[in-house]
Order: sequence, then C-alpha cells, then structure tokens
Amino acid sequence: MASAPVRTNNLEAFWMPFTANRQFKQAPRMFVSADRMHYTTSDGRQVLDGTAGLWCCNAGHNRPKIVEAIRQQAGELDYAPAFQMGHPKAFELASRLTQITPEGFDHVFFTNSGSESVDTALKIAIAYQRAKGQGSRFRLIGRERGYHGVNFGGISVGGIVTNRKMFGTLLTGVDHMRHTHDLDRNAYTVGEPEHGAELADDLLRIATLHDPSTIAAVIVEPVAGSTGVLVPPKGYLKKLREICDQHGILLIFDEVITGYGRLGTPFAADYFGVTPDIMVTAKGLTNGVIPMGAVFVKKDIYDAFMTGPEHLIEFFHGYTYSGNPIASAAALGTLDTYQEEGLLTRAAELAPYWADALHSLKGLPHVIDLRSIGLIGAIELEPIAGLPTKRAFSAFLKAYDAGLLIRTTGDIIALSPPLIIEKSQIDFIFDTLKDILTSLD
Ligand SMILES: Cc1ncc(COP(=O)(O)O)c(C=O)c1O
Repeated sequence: MASAPVRTNNLEAFWMPFTANRQFKQAPRMFVSADRMHYTTSDGRQVLDGTAGLWCCNAGHNRPKIVEAIRQQAGELDYAPAFQMGHPKAFELASRLTQITPEGFDHVFFTNSGSESVDTALKIAIAYQRAKGQGSRFRLIGRERGYHGVNFGGISVGGIVTNRKMFGTLLTGVDHMRHTHDLDRNAYTVGEPEHGAELADDLLRIATLHDPSTIAAVIVEPVAGSTGVLVPPKGYLKKLREICDQHGILLIFDEVITGYGRLGTPFAADYFGVTPDIMVTAKGLTNGVIPMGAVFVKKDIYDAFMTGPEHLIEFFHGYTYSGNPIASAAALGTLDTYQEEGLLTRAAELAPYWADALHSLKGLPHVIDLRSIGLIGAIELEPIAGLPTKRAFSAFLKAYDAGLLIRTTGDIIALSPPLIIEKSQIDFIFDTLKDILTSLD
C-alpha cells in the first residue's frame, strides 16, 4: 500500500485555493491514494477521513460503482454539447434525482460546483420574479456568516468577511440577516438549539426597510457549515418560510453540504420539515469524484419560464459542462451506491453515538462549545489572545500527524466523516482529538 514519495520538484507553480501556500510548501501534506475511510499519504501513512474530503465524499473513497460508471462512460460518450443537444445519462440522472428530492421539486438545472449552483439559483430567482410580472423584486437577502461559494453572487449574499473584503462592491441590492450563533444561551447543544427562533424576524425587519415588493429571494444554509457549523434554532427555518410566504419572497436552501444524507435524511429540507422553493446542491451529488452541481426548482418556477414561442431559448444561462456525460455517470453510480447501502439515512442511526462521542470532549482545555447534528460535529476553541485561528490550525496539523483529517475554520474544528463510518472509527476520531486537545498550547 505504501506509495513512493511524490516526485514533485516544483511546488511553486500551483497557487493553492484557500490554503496557506507558504506554510504548505515548506511542509507539504500530500495524499496519493484513498480507499473507503482512509487516505494514504506520500510517506505511506493512513489518515482517517474525518471530513469526507471537503464534505463531499459521503460514500467514502474508491467506491466500485462510481469508478466503473466513470470508466464505462469515458469510453462510450466522453462529451456532448450541453446547449441544444442532449444525451441519455443527464435525463436519467435528472429523473432519478427528482425521485429523492422532497415532493414538488420536479426540475433540475445542472452546474459544475456549489458556487455555480448558488449563482444559478440567484439568477433563477430574479428571472422568475420578472417572468411573473414582479420585476421590482430584485433584492437578494443572505445572512451573516453564511457561505455560498466564491462567485460574485455567492460572496455577495454570503456573510464571511474574509471572503468578501478584498473584492470591491460585490452585487448591489443585497442585505443580510443576523446570524444565529449564541454561545451564551445555546452552548453544548445536541441538535437544534432551544433559543433563537425569533432571529428569523430579522427578515421581517429587512423586508420592512426595503419594502417586501423589492425582494426576490432569501438564501440560507439550513445548517451553516463553512463558518463553523451553526445549527438552526428550533422553529427558526419554519418562521423564515412563513415570512417568505406572507411576502411573496422565494426561499432558497443552500444544501451543498447538507444534501445527500449528511443529516440522516436525503436533504435538510426533509430533516427540518421545511420546504424551500429552490434547493442548491453539489458535493455529495457525485460523491465529490467529478465536479457537478444541481439546482432543484419547484414545478411552478420551471413552468413560469416555459412560455413564449417554442423555438426560443427560455433561460439564458448554462455551462459548457452542464450535465456532462461523465459527471452524470458518476452521479448515477453515486446514487446507486447511496441507495444500495442505505447511506441517505445512515447518519440518523449513527447520530446518537456520534453526539455522545463528541460531547465527551466537554471540559477539555480550550473547548468552549460542542455542537452536533446528523453526522456533523463542531468543537469551538477559545482563540489564543492576539492570534486567532492559530490554536485550531495547530490541532489540524497535530491531527494529520496522528492519522486523522479534520477541518478548521477560525478556531472551530468541523467534522463530517463519510457516511460509511463505523463506530470504532468514530472512537478513533474522538480518542485522537482528546489527546490533541489535552496537549495543545
Ligand atoms: C453551503 C455551501 N455552498 C456553496 C459551496 C461552494 O461549493 P464549491 O466549492 O463546490 O463551489 C460550499 C462549499 O463548501 C458550501 O459549503
């Protein structure tokens, strides 16, 4: 299994995304292969994947159905133009997906990433309002601390300051609701926090400020992931839905990390019993293996575009790789794997064990909060005074040395393992973290 060292003689050329490039290039961390729950490093070590890659490899790695689907498709039809032409796999995939989405999501628009799915959803929302004779509805509402990818639409509605501050004026006509993080009232909650449903009223405040008739859509992550795992307070999402309904505002759920089984239901909309108008997905759609995203819309949204002369394009939007044959095949292989192994609901079985293991870290040095839902966990650490992020980053480096991949954002450790994880591997994650937290500066 041990692989030869990577013969990379120039690390400089690759400008790495969301990475401390100079630190990395001094002490590179390289994966050379992966199988099920583990990566193999270039120095031949096994590292348990505590993050499903980047929240995407929900079925784990090197899964035969997905690998085979890609192989076969590459030899059969490698590419077909996405505009004014079709191929069977994209249609098959769309139909299969609409069987697992909440009722009413009868149509799907394919993209290549979460960021593209977000921008596609925002464009659909504005164009839909216009198609319905509501052209005055152009505003988009996001939320503080939200992450919706890195394209201009996504960072405009997003609320992570570091992702926004370097990029000028962003989209106009955007406003943000308050975030829901409240350590004083909700620390150490398993599942949905008790306090904070009233924060949904912030949408009402914003709608009143701008007048509801100017607002096209509001977008939220049902569980905010990249900001460090913020679980919505009980009743919060239902309240958002009610306010949207009262004021003709579309509700968009960004399910890029919650989609495809992360919470123990196919989508977060199922988990919380709240149905948005548009659902944004990517990542787990293809098990992260081939880039692909999917935006689901309700029938009335699709129908609103299907007017006018039939020879005319209805929606001037799309990507060269929308519904790409190899990506479609990978997604079909992924769906087969999820369905055969019951992975879209497996997190529900494991969630209590997962939560107990996570919450056993209470009382360890520097830990100021633990939160969990489905197969997601977060450990919030007290930052080192004057050196924010350093403590969590040290934990990340120590974990990697100890054979565990975790993810950190600010001083929060986020965990989201593949949904095939076994209980003994959950024990390994938290035993390892216990040792690390005990030894951190
Ligand atoms: C909620 C959410 N939306 C959008 C994205 C962006 O996805 P991508 O990196 O595929 O563009 C992410 C990525 O982590 C995400 O977590």
